[in-house]
Amino acid sequence: MDYTDQIVIVTGASAGIGRATALAFARRGAIVVAVARRQGRLAELIAECQEHSPKSMYLAGDLGTREFAYRIIDDTAERFGRVDVLINNAAVPVHQNFYDITVEQAERAIQVNFMSVLWTTFAVVPYMLKQESGSIINISSFASKVVPPFEAVYAASKAAINGLTEGLWNDLAGSNIHVGLICPGPFDTEMWDNRDTQTGYEGKRYPPSLMVRAIFRSIENRVLEMVVPGTDPGMLAARFLRVTFPGILRRGMARMDGVPAEAIKKARALAILGKRLGER
Ligand SMILES: NC(=O)c1ccc[n+]([C@@H]2O[C@H](COP(=O)([O-])OP(=O)(O)OC[C@H]3O[C@@H](n4cnc5c(N)ncnc54)[C@H](OP(=O)(O)O)[C@@H]3O)[C@@H](O)[C@H]2O)c1
Repeated sequence: MDYTDQIVIVTGASAGIGRATALAFARRGAIVVAVARRQGRLAELIAECQEHSPKSMYLAGDLGTREFAYRIIDDTAERFGRVDVLINNAAVPVHQNFYDITVEQAERAIQVNFMSVLWTTFAVVPYMLKQESGSIINISSFASKVVPPFEAVYAASKAAINGLTEGLWNDLAGSNIHVGLICPGPFDTEMWDNRDTQTGYEGKRYPPSLMVRAIFRSIENRVLEMVVPGTDPGMLAARFLRVTFPGILRRGMARMDGVPAEAIKKARALAILGKRLGER
């Protein structure tokens, strides 16, 4: 597919999968609008993108706010006259058991990970309807398929994306707007360092280039949903057990990353004192 001068917005482009995706689109001649909070990182990325696609640019801000989510779409459309591809990729990790997470942390994760996708979708669909084409690719997580311990809120934020994407796929039929969902397994990015607590997962982490390939495939073949990588034996086994023997899966995951008995004891003591969960 020819991406020359296509207008492509990539959120979460200052690192990891988003950065690799933005660069790949620029190398194919697309005009990239890179979005994230860290302006310095975005400026570096855009300097690289501009070697291939001189009109590429960035917009720095917080996607946890509706105003900024709307703005990235409207500013792009105003400047370039259209939006061909939107990659909703930005997210924050949350690795906290439900006894310890605060209600503020949970709300923030839902806003950045899910609400931003909802807001950008509300904003971008009218432009795509007017131009009679477009692709929206939403990056979810394998954690929305098989929820690991400590990931209830993160998985909920991603499962909401799954529902939205599948629903949009129905509602956008006939509009020539493609919407695709990609659920990544473990990828080698800084997301693993940004968790509040470390996970017990010590298995393989895949290179972001694999996600880039999946994103292009979703757009070009109009694929609704992909789990990436599709052949990881651990992920295949987890999905199989999730459907057939969920109890075995739960025991296995608890051994890998179990909630300490101490956390339950402490939460129970606070409950007896009348304290609500989510408050510290
Ligand atoms: N890596 C994995 O193993 C893995 C597994 C499953 C799913 N995923 C999903 O894949 C996507 C990319 O993850 P990654 O591993 O590449 O993560 P990453 O390296 O941590 O990058 C996350 C990106 O999101 C941006 N971001 C975070 N909060 C933001 C906010 N409030 N406003 C604007 N931008 C924000 C970050 O930029 P700033 O900090 O500069 O704002 C960064 O560019 C995410 O949706 C993630 O949930 C990743």
